[in-house]
Amino acid sequence: MSNKKQQVSRRQFLNYTLTGVGGFMAAGMLAPMVRFAVDPVLKPQKAGDFIATGTEVSSITNTPTRVDFSYEQVDAWYKSTVSKTAWVYKDEKGDIVALSPICKHLGCIVEWKKEGEHANQYYCPCHGGLYSKNGDNVPGTPPLAPLDQYKTNVKDGVLYLGEIVPNQEVK
Ligand code: FES
Repeated sequence: MSNKKQQVSRRQFLNYTLTGVGGFMAAGMLAPMVRFAVDPVLKPQKAGDFIATGTEVSSITNTPTRVDFSYEQVDAWYKSTVSKTAWVYKDEKGDIVALSPICKHLGCIVEWKKEGEHANQYYCPCHGGLYSKNGDNVPGTPPLAPLDQYKTNVKDGVLYLGEIVPNQEVK
């Protein structure tokens, strides 16, 4: 009788032990996967970050000029270089405006035209979208909204660009 009791007790002990070890191993395997899935959600947004463009503010005129800049982005263990572009100019008040080049129709890249048929407008080569200098979409062309713009900042005479927000210039 007591022998039988001891066998049951051993079996239970083994069951508990194996269940515990199995659970521990499963948790060890699942934890990185769960962390990978939710990590970007839990990470605070760096909304206030500004990236140095390397462009001297003194060189910015009232004619839109293409400014390319890049920064390092770390996503979990993956590190990459993100390249961005802005069309930058000074408005009548001397304030710096930095427009996103992404067309609001289907996302192609717009170019400032200095001359030719679409002179002094941003032109989208995909479907002929047009925008005026302040980013306002030209009626009768495919885009239905103005170009977005970057938040701007100046430090030591250099232009810094931040997050992209809806166009503040278009009234
Ligand atoms: S994507 Fe620019 S006009 Fe269509």
